[in-house]
Amino acid sequence: MVLIRKAQIWDIAESKVTSEKNYWNRRQFLKTLAGAGMVASIAPLTGCSSLGGIGKSTAETALENSLKLPTIDSFSKNPAFNKLQKTITDEKIAGQYNNFYEFGGTKNIWLNAQKLPTENWQVAVTGLVKNPRTYDIDQLKKEFSLEQRIYRFRCVEAWSMVLPWIGFPMKQLIAAVEPSSKAKYVSFTSFYDPEITKGPGFHLGSLPWPYTEGLRIEEMANELAFFALGIYGHDLPKQHGAPLRMVIPWKYGFKGAKSIVKIEFVETQPATYWNTIDAREYDFEANVNPDKPHPRWSQATEKFISTGPGLSWEIKETLPYNGYGEYVASLYS
Ligand code: MTE
Repeated sequence: MVLIRKAQIWDIAESKVTSEKNYWNRRQFLKTLAGAGMVASIAPLTGCSSLGGIGKSTAETALENSLKLPTIDSFSKNPAFNKLQKTITDEKIAGQYNNFYEFGGTKNIWLNAQKLPTENWQVAVTGLVKNPRTYDIDQLKKEFSLEQRIYRFRCVEAWSMVLPWIGFPMKQLIAAVEPSSKAKYVSFTSFYDPEITKGPGFHLGSLPWPYTEGLRIEEMANELAFFALGIYGHDLPKQHGAPLRMVIPWKYGFKGAKSIVKIEFVETQPATYWNTIDAREYDFEANVNPDKPHPRWSQATEKFISTGPGLSWEIKETLPYNGYGEYVASLYS
């Protein structure tokens, strides 16, 4: 396992792949945020060259420790969606290539994310429901039937992985809390405490924290919409959004809010983090669509990240709805 940066995913020849040069030009990215009036103060970014700036062997051990978590003992394997992929992304690759902006603006936030306090976690389910509830994680594990689903994961930045999540379909939660007929949307809120989460040298103080996401209630009720409590057979590592995150495989990855503390059933479309920052670049629906380019790059292809050592990828064509059209296209007809 090569932990020190060799090739970066954005180093690939532009002739071979969708150009996302602009995206990865951080000055441009930050200018965009500043242009949207979102940035109060930004210290210089550190780039992605080392694993949190610590020596290699210490870094390797720390990474392994961050992935060494209690196994989840009882879950069924749901093979229904497996036909869409052959290779599962290597666990250590997935565990050190993350987006979790609360902990910093680079892909290697895994170390900083270990500050996330996950003990005694509670998730409030509120709003237009008959049975509002506050769950702890053990209750979620006991009350809902856990299964493993191997899903494709497609980031809006044009990279992708295949990940083996453990969790339960969101529709089970809908059945438990019984939304009223007025509930048309659902808002999901991530943990946020600026004293804990701010990354070194990267604190976008005036961004619309906490991170929030939203779905139409019909989307949440779709068979594919999933809450993950685990991955690779064990509890979720902090960098992947412990202890509970959303997984919406037909939408871009930013729809999958991490480290959820609140789920609220509401009447009107809720504000969401990226859509508030720039609605033109991050629409509320955000379905994977190869024919609809992002304003700054094409979405026709993706860099599929599978196995190590180091960061390597193959170029794949992006599929409408990330390949899940047969399950979800009817939601949009
Ligand atoms: N959730 C929170 N709270 N904060 C974030 O920055 N990033 C999103 C999503 N959920 C994000 C988040 C984006 S852009 C992506 S691509 C995925 O998380 C990345 O998930 P992963 O790091 O587990 O691959």
